[in-house]
Amino acid sequence: MAVMDVAIEIGTSFTSIYLSGSGVVLREPTVVAFIGENENKKLLAAGSKAVQMQGRAPEKTTVVCPVADGYIVDADACVVLMKEFIKRILPSYVIFPRIRALLAVPTGLTVGERKVYEDVLRASGVNEIMLVDNVIVTALGFDLPVASAEGGLVVNVGGGVTEIAIISLCGTISGCSVNVGGNMMDKALIDFLVGKYGLKVGSATARRIKEEIGSLYPNDIASMEVKGINTNTMTPSSLNVYATDVYEALLPYYARIAEAVEGITNLCPPELASGIHGMGLFAAGGASKMPGFDKVLKEVLGIPVTIGEDPEYTAISGAGKLLGNKELLNAILAQQ
Ligand SMILES: Nc1ncnc2c1ncn2[C@@H]1O[C@H](COP(=O)(O)OP(=O)(O)OP(=O)(O)O)[C@@H](O)[C@H]1O
Ligand SMILES: [Mg+2]
Repeated sequence: MAVMDVAIEIGTSFTSIYLSGSGVVLREPTVVAFIGENENKKLLAAGSKAVQMQGRAPEKTTVVCPVADGYIVDADACVVLMKEFIKRILPSYVIFPRIRALLAVPTGLTVGERKVYEDVLRASGVNEIMLVDNVIVTALGFDLPVASAEGGLVVNVGGGVTEIAIISLCGTISGCSVNVGGNMMDKALIDFLVGKYGLKVGSATARRIKEEIGSLYPNDIASMEVKGINTNTMTPSSLNVYATDVYEALLPYYARIAEAVEGITNLCPPELASGIHGMGLFAAGGASKMPGFDKVLKEVLGIPVTIGEDPEYTAISGAGKLLGNKELLNAILAQQ
């Protein structure tokens, strides 16, 4: 029987799958659409097709985001989604493979919460499951020496949650999760635009503004025309939104992340402090793509800051690297 080794991250915004020998073979929104109700409920769309139905689905269609704030909140929907994603990545010549999965999970899960992740993957057709903390695979994505006593300081700013940790000797020395992520920033931007311009935009538009012209540099002059609803007349309206609007709306959130990282560095044991200060902070996750985030972090922390090249891929590529290093994998699993 063919054995397939995969690494999986089921994020609030995106699910990624790394197939051993091939690399990242899937990155799709963690969104699933169903048609019908109860026992007649059927899968209608998964991933990017399901996202397009958000906010415009007819009565018999439901669009579900099975992960919120970093955690699985709808296990049944998550199983349907994972079954579909796994089906998509299986090479057509492989019949009934035995699937071994390394799953990146939020840091600090309880035994019960870990079981939810295991049950979801098992019900999705995975035969063997290994759970590894997101922060560890994030560090591996940066090639940090996680097994050494030197360790490293990492932050992963995702769609639902920000995870921060100091890692050493294959485990987490100190860390925390902050419930700030890209989704919360989208909502903050929506509220900001209502307050400033009386323009209500949808969450997809807010995300687009943030990703296309967003910046944490106060004098960025980029702008874009956006469509929404005039909240006074309740009629469709469009106007120019500026990078400085994103700056004003989102700086407090990025500053909160920087302060939370500072809180973790203050807990750093003296033996690790000089190494951590020398190497600095390594930041990953889609929301760390915001231009100027490194500057905000440096101002607060006073240490070097490295943002991942494609930071939304750092954790899954780190998990993929771990699949290929059995000795390190065993050492890390022993600490989980
Ligand atoms: N250029 C950008 N500026 C700011 N945010 C961005 C940018 N590009 C992507 N993002 C945000 O990154 C988030 C997705 O990041 P990522 O894929 O790391 O999240 P996730 O792993 O699904 O979520 P989590 O780890 O919180 O469960 C989204 O909120 C998206 O809007
Ligand atoms: Mg993530």
